[in-house]
Amino acid sequence: MADAALVAFSVPDLGEDAIEAVVDAIRSTWLTTGPRAEPFEREFQAYLGAAHALAVNSCTAAMHLALAALGVGPGDEVITTPLTFCATVNVILQVGATPVLADIGEELNLDPTRVEAMITPRTKAILPVHYGGLPCRMQEIWALAEKHGLKVIEDGAHAAGAEYRRRKIDTGPSDSVHFIPIPLHPYYRRTLELRDPCERALAEYPRLVSLPIYSKMTDAEVERVIEAVRGVVEAGRRKAVAAGL
Ligand SMILES: Cc1ncc(COP(=O)(O)O)c(C=O)c1O
Repeated sequence: MADAALVAFSVPDLGEDAIEAVVDAIRSTWLTTGPRAEPFEREFQAYLGAAHALAVNSCTAAMHLALAALGVGPGDEVITTPLTFCATVNVILQVGATPVLADIGEELNLDPTRVEAMITPRTKAILPVHYGGLPCRMQEIWALAEKHGLKVIEDGAHAAGAEYRRRKIDTGPSDSVHFIPIPLHPYYRRTLELRDPCERALAEYPRLVSLPIYSKMTDAEVERVIEAVRGVVEAGRRKAVAAGL
């Protein structure tokens, strides 16, 4: 049972029509790619203005499929961000390639300058993540890809519906996010060589606060979050004053 005194961090916005559609699909006995997938793909493709759309079960599957389809494999390197969910790095490992982290810029997305510094003759692709739905500096990333003959696979897990220069970002359902940077996970600390120290990602992480924001929040819950934020800001202010800052 959820504690009534707590505000849930994230509640998915699932309407009755969506729930009924899932129940209908299960009742129809089509548990894998069935007759609902194709109309969904067509609608999503039209919504994105993309050349193609292919429904898969998750963003992880989509990224894995894209890497495999592009022939990324053992001996190849893929440059990605330290500030992401582990799936972004895991799909690179899953195809046998090496994830190479490049630090973030001030907007918390991959910094194209740091990406360029990480390119080696083994680099095959760049995998930017549109963190929290904010599109990356794609113009610069595409230019790098063009210059060095690299593929670009975008992790759009947070960014369905987000737009970059009038182009919709591909893939992915959006949800609340709060990540421990990849270099701080014990497994990756042991196994990933950190060529870029990712100092900005590590410095930003303790300063990041993720707030609950979703359509089902009540006004009372919104007020509680505002109060909590005020409390944190006030405590920080008092600490700064006490330290003579
Ligand atoms: C940035 C990012 N990429 C990939 C994923 C994986 O998405 P899925 O659970 O749909 O595989 C997530 C999930 O939180 C994510 O936040």
